[in-house]
Amino acid sequence: MKDYKRTLVTSALPYANGPIHLGHLAGVYVPSDIYTRYQRLRGKDIIHVCGSDEHGVPITLKARNEGVSPQAIVDRYHAINKKAFEDFGIAFDIYSRTSNKMHYETASTFFRKLYDDGKFIEKSTDQYFDTESNTFLADRYITGTCPHCSNPEAYGDQCEQCGTSLSPSDLINPTSRLSGSKPVLKETKHWYLPLDKYEPWLKQWILEEHKEWKPNVYGQCKSWIDQGLQPRAVSRDLNWGVPVPVENAEGKVLYVWFDAPIGYISATRELTDKWEKYWKDEDTRMIHFIGKDNIVFHCIIFPAMLKAEGSYILPDNVPANEFLNLESDKISTSRNWAVWLHEYLEDFPGKQDVLRYVLCANAPEAKDNDFTWKDFQNRNNNELVAILGNFVNRTLVLTNKYYDGAVPARGQLNETDKNVLSETAKIVESVEKSLESFRFREAVKLAMDLARLGNKYLAETEPWKVIKTDPVRVETILNISLQITAGLSILLEPFLPFSMKKLRDYIGLGAAEWELLRSEEILKPGHKTGKPGLLFDKVEDEAIQVQLDKLKNSKAKASNEAALTPQKEEVSFDDFTKMDIRTATILEAEKVPKTKKLIKMLVDTGIDQRTIVSGIAEYYDPAVLPGQKVCVLVNLAPRKIMGIVSQGMILLSENSDGQLFFVEPGKTAHNGAEVN
Ligand code: 2FM
Ligand code: ZN
Repeated sequence: MKDYKRTLVTSALPYANGPIHLGHLAGVYVPSDIYTRYQRLRGKDIIHVCGSDEHGVPITLKARNEGVSPQAIVDRYHAINKKAFEDFGIAFDIYSRTSNKMHYETASTFFRKLYDDGKFIEKSTDQYFDTESNTFLADRYITGTCPHCSNPEAYGDQCEQCGTSLSPSDLINPTSRLSGSKPVLKETKHWYLPLDKYEPWLKQWILEEHKEWKPNVYGQCKSWIDQGLQPRAVSRDLNWGVPVPVENAEGKVLYVWFDAPIGYISATRELTDKWEKYWKDEDTRMIHFIGKDNIVFHCIIFPAMLKAEGSYILPDNVPANEFLNLESDKISTSRNWAVWLHEYLEDFPGKQDVLRYVLCANAPEAKDNDFTWKDFQNRNNNELVAILGNFVNRTLVLTNKYYDGAVPARGQLNETDKNVLSETAKIVESVEKSLESFRFREAVKLAMDLARLGNKYLAETEPWKVIKTDPVRVETILNISLQITAGLSILLEPFLPFSMKKLRDYIGLGAAEWELLRSEEILKPGHKTGKPGLLFDKVEDEAIQVQLDKLKNSKAKASNEAALTPQKEEVSFDDFTKMDIRTATILEAEKVPKTKKLIKMLVDTGIDQRTIVSGIAEYYDPAVLPGQKVCVLVNLAPRKIMGIVSQGMILLSENSDGQLFFVEPGKTAHNGAEVN
């Protein structure tokens, strides 16, 4: 790899229309923070920029639903998310936002340059328009059936069921989300970036020159390019966003995916006057940390924009992650199937590092992965407490006990000591390799191997026994154990910044520097360590159960809401009176052989006694049914079910667990009374 002078790390700008959850942390911000912290420890010139993505239809829709302005929505979530990142130690150099002045200026200038250089195509096309709300229906303002997977609730820009990206004209039965009406087609003018023109260059740049990109990233780029790139509209008819900075463009704003990545540039400008060295010097290495749904925008569209502009560098790598699921189910804001960061902190105060650790150890680097609370508990109790905490604690307690906290000098080293020191150096080297190649799961596991090594060393050397027979030998053992402890406080700093800071305070190490890891004696003899406390404590079963119960409640609530099917089409009163519903009593009931669900009943409807077959065997035992009062639609045309003619239908309703039960008439109802 080229020897770069500096690094610019960008993390995807989260939309400011909701709080962030553990999926965001695992996919983007924990890895980008680990990487940046590591390079900072190495003394590299590196900056990490991020901020809120404050445009786009989901924000205006939310504002509309709440009856507030889009600015009020983004103000709220910008503050919440900025705080959540700070709370979890995601150490951005700047957390900016795309509704600020600097960004409007940067994005407008960028667009204007492309416009003036003739890089856009201007095209008028027919687009869906809602005549009731007088609005063009861009992106998420429109829903319809996905042409690929038949999901009836696909959006105008994407189907969330099958992940395909769509345009409104792809939708079957398009419907406006503003008024619920059927949209009409109306002509409108927009600016398009002709991606097709950049295809040969993208092919060369990505498919030939960036074969080192992660397989999931490279593969997605290849499949986009292989399908052939099309011109892409970079403006929208909306009133929230950066206005298109050309004449006669009233009511038109930049497409959110045009302005958002420019947000990285705006944030850097806001951070430093020297921003150009990070964006316009080939000696800068730019790395985009993102989730897999952002790959096309960061690997194809944004680079094409940068290339068209001409004065910017391109990303050198885009280590995108796959998605994290939660307890085997897709994380979903609308179903509240998520762990919100602010709620986690309320339930586990001070345990930011535990979540960072678990999310890194189980990161969805190569494929989607699952977060489970059981795994969280196991990793905390069996790894952080039992391996790392245990080693550090034993070392510091013994140092206090035998030497009043002062680092003892080492004497003659034996084979075990030498091995441990050389193993330590090897671990450091392998952690570096993994971090440099964005393999964070592997890196954290290797770094924890140093604590495993420390425990093994203590178990083999048994200083607590040897102290009675050979106290001089114990000085060497504890000197080495203390060097491992100090090494851990640096090696694990990118992953566990809060706890490693605590640990450095316990051992009086001050600021961490990666170079210290090359030293055989980080803590010199005579150096005074402080009083140790516990770095981690156990997570009990009860705390885990609270989290599982929370999720269970979310599921029950979501299934209740999902069970509420929309109101059906209007019927006339005459249509209603055509239905003859009577109260009746079940006289006999038996299971229909060879079926799971069906029960055949003889029912007294007051008018007659007749046979009705109903799918209730999962909910009722036939033995208890005789005598049961029910309501029956008696003039439903007879139907043959499993060879039995069923004459009518018993009315049923559903409870919150999806179980069916009878709609019961009052106890005194006589058979044959009309229900209306
Ligand atoms: O997917 C998202 O959450 C987008 N808001 C990411 C934008 S990244 C960048 F382009 F700003
Ligand atoms: Zn679909």
